[in-house]
Amino acid sequence: MSEIHRKTGVILALDVTKKEEALLISKEVAGFVDAIKIGYPLVLGTGLSIAKDLSKIAPVIADFKVADIPNTDRLICEHVFSAGCDAVIVQGFTGSDSLMECVKTANEFQRKVFVVAEMSHPGGDYFFTDAVSKEIAALAKKAGAFGIVAPATRPERVKELRAVIGKDLKIISPGVGAQGGSAADTIKAGADWVIVGRSIYGAKDPKAEAEKIKKEIEKLI
Ligand code: XMP
Repeated sequence: MSEIHRKTGVILALDVTKKEEALLISKEVAGFVDAIKIGYPLVLGTGLSIAKDLSKIAPVIADFKVADIPNTDRLICEHVFSAGCDAVIVQGFTGSDSLMECVKTANEFQRKVFVVAEMSHPGGDYFFTDAVSKEIAALAKKAGAFGIVAPATRPERVKELRAVIGKDLKIISPGVGAQGGSAADTIKAGADWVIVGRSIYGAKDPKAEAEKIKKEIEKLI
C-alpha cells in the first residue's frame, strides 16, 4: 500500500487489456504520474492480481464505480483493497448508506474513496445535473470520502464542485486529451490531478506524453 501524493498532478488511466503492455507502459511513465487508475478493461483482461503488480510501480486507484447496496459494496471494497488497490472510485447516487459503507471499509483498510460527482462524456450531465452533482459532492464530504471525480471536459463544473467541497477533499478529473479537456484549465479550475488515458497509453511515446502533461501542470505553479 502506498499513499497518493501530488507530485506531478497526473494519474494514468490504464485501459489496456494485456498484462505485459500494462506493466511496460506503467514502468515507462512511472516518474511522470502520481498514480495508476485501473478499471474493468484491464481487470477483466488480466484479473485483479494486476493490482498488486502495478502497486509496486505506483499507487493504484480501482475505477469500479461501485454502486450497490451497502453489503455488496463492502464485499467489493474488501476485495479491491485486499488485492492491493490504494483507492476505489464509487458512485454517490446510491445514497448515504451505501457510500458510508464504502468509506467505512476503506478506513478499516486505511485506504481511500473517490466519489463520482459528474461524468466527463457528452451525456455525463444528462442525469448528473448541476444540482445533483453538487448534492453528491456534499454527500461525499459528509461521508468522509478522500475526494471526488469531476469532469475535465467542463472545467467550470470543477470550479463549482470545488466550491462545494472546500479544500479538504481532493478532485481527480478525467477527460483530458482524447475527450478534449485541457490539463492546465482543469488544474486551474481546482482539480488536484488530471486523469489521462488514451493520450498517454495510446501514444507512440507514452513517457514523452506523460512528461508533456506533467510540464504543462508544473508551469502553473
Ligand atoms: P481517456 O482515454 O478518455 O480515459 O483519457 C479516461 C478514463 O477515465 C475514466 N472516466 C471516468 N471515470 N468518472 C470516472 O469515475 C468520469 O466521469 C469518467 N470519465 C472518464 C474512463 O473510464 C477512462 O478510464
